[in-house]
Amino acid sequence: MKIPKRIQPLVEEGLIDTVVRQLMSGKEATVFVVRCGEETRCAKVYKEASQRSFRQAASYQEGRKVKNSRQARAMEKGTRYGRKMQEETWQNAEVDALFRLAAAGVRVPRPYICFEGVLLMDLVTDADGNAAPRLNDVELSEAQALAYHAQLLHQVVLMLCAGVIHGDLSEYNILVDAEGPVIIDLPQAIDAAGNTEAGPMLERDVHNLATYFSQFAPQLATTQYGKEIWKLYVAGLLRSDTVLTGRVEAPKGQADVGAVMREIALARKEEEERLRYQNAE
Ligand SMILES: Nc1ncnc2c1ncn2[C@@H]1O[C@H](COP(=O)(O)OP(=O)(O)OP(=O)(O)O)[C@@H](O)[C@H]1O
Ligand SMILES: [Mg+2]
Repeated sequence: MKIPKRIQPLVEEGLIDTVVRQLMSGKEATVFVVRCGEETRCAKVYKEASQRSFRQAASYQEGRKVKNSRQARAMEKGTRYGRKMQEETWQNAEVDALFRLAAAGVRVPRPYICFEGVLLMDLVTDADGNAAPRLNDVELSEAQALAYHAQLLHQVVLMLCAGVIHGDLSEYNILVDAEGPVIIDLPQAIDAAGNTEAGPMLERDVHNLATYFSQFAPQLATTQYGKEIWKLYVAGLLRSDTVLTGRVEAPKGQADVGAVMREIALARKEEEERLRYQNAE
């Protein structure tokens, strides 16, 4: 097809040879199938800031690092330079997260570069080499649902061990290739250690998985993997091979036996006082 204007700079740089077709136009980006030499890849063209949605909310941005304090001040003030910086920080967040996660062994598309607001990455494909379906578009048996759920929990743990929380994990941001689920769409990824909302976000991501898969495997509906994973992470006990149970013990405060005994002694003393008072009358 004709090269879209936004992809032109990548063609000029020799990063892309031809554009095969448009794959999707989502809320945040338009995605194309492209050819780079012998390879078929995926180009995600980010939309302008004004067309984007909730995920730039402050709770996602917290803890993100910018290069220097001049940039930080400009971003706060919202100057033109500041807005440009904000735009770049947003666009680079996804490619940064992809590099970090790919290195940590998480199943994400392999990234190449983010250039002029276009992210170039591997195309996730099905067994026939076509663009892979989203998890939401595949019919699952109970056994498959349980297997995918377990695989995804393992991916979430690997991500958290690498310090990253997806922040918008759902059946729409997971593709299914021949080997199983692949996680995509990470511009809002959260820094697990630097964001005060990290715990609730992790729990929400994991809860979304349980809710989705419970339509095929109802026993998942009552699991508490998110709470369990976060508790282990906070305690410094989360490892990539940690065995999860899906249950967390209800907090049982230590019974304060001493206080109960003091309470009984006081009641007895009061009763003795009362009796003595009555007898004295
Ligand atoms: N690497 C990839 N390989 C194959 N397909 C992809 C890839 N990346 C994105 N897609 C397709 O493009 C769609 C949109 O991608 P993505 O979710 O990253 O963008 P988005 O603009 O945030 O979309 P949405 O608003 O729908 O969530 C995906 O649902 C998927 O079908
Ligand atoms: Mg998406």
